[in-house]
Amino acid sequence: MTGYFPLIVPPDLICEESPIMSYSTLMESGCNNEIHPKESDLISGESTKRQNEFITGRICARRALKNLQIYNFPILFNEHKLPLFPSTVKGSIAHTSSYCAVVLGLNFKYKSIGIDIEHISKMKSRYFNTLCTNEELLFLKKYSEQEQMEKATILFSAKEAFYKLQFQITQKMLFFKDVCCSILDDNTFSIRLYKQLDKQFYYNATFAGLYYISNEMIFTALHLEVD
Ligand SMILES: CC(C)(COP(=O)(O)OP(=O)(O)OC[C@H]1O[C@@H](n2cnc3c(N)ncnc32)[C@H](O)[C@@H]1OP(=O)(O)O)[C@@H](O)C(=O)NCCC(=O)NCCS
Repeated sequence: MTGYFPLIVPPDLICEESPIMSYSTLMESGCNNEIHPKESDLISGESTKRQNEFITGRICARRALKNLQIYNFPILFNEHKLPLFPSTVKGSIAHTSSYCAVVLGLNFKYKSIGIDIEHISKMKSRYFNTLCTNEELLFLKKYSEQEQMEKATILFSAKEAFYKLQFQITQKMLFFKDVCCSILDDNTFSIRLYKQLDKQFYYNATFAGLYYISNEMIFTALHLEVD
């Protein structure tokens, strides 16, 4: 087992992780056999940062798909930037400026997966009012300034992972205060929905997830199994 996500997702989910690769270096060195030309087309003209993050995500995703005997599949995206995996697969992609991960599962068992990664150093106290509900702000106040940054990053990352999880099902937009996250001591968190999205994502519904802290980064994951 390598990487962080195997620590927080069920063992039958496939995880691939990598430091961010340089797209131009891969292309110029001829080591581009893992890059699909249809994906290259999608990012021509984008910033170097975007190209590197996008291509690392796609390479990780194709490495993960190999475990399911799916080869050379281009992962395009729809008008909402949602990655389009093969129809038998559910998955989620996350990247920071330095690290990338993909988690995939088979759709006969998994209805949706949402993952996220955030650097604690990127969190600023001036973001709290935008990201947090009143309950979350009260929760943060119990901690020292340094602990607040870590807890706020978990809240933020959990909300981003939940957004990715729900969007694959509802295709609906959510704002940060539309959900409230409770961080529990055993590396778990619970997301409560303050908005009605559909029959499964109803007002006050709760969704459990797991987080992990390492190397000043927060890793979060949620999944929903088929009923
Ligand atoms: C989509 C979003 C969640 C991405 O999160 P991020 O921390 O900015 O970026 P990450 O690197 O973690 O994730 C990016 C990946 O998410 C995936 N993604 C993008 N849009 C998505 C969507 N609508 N649904 C599911 N996954 C999505 C993509 O794979 C993307 O990588 P790619 O473009 O290279 O394929 C965020 O940009 C966003 O739009 N948020 C909406 C507001 C919000 O977060 N609300 C939370 C309230 S609950």
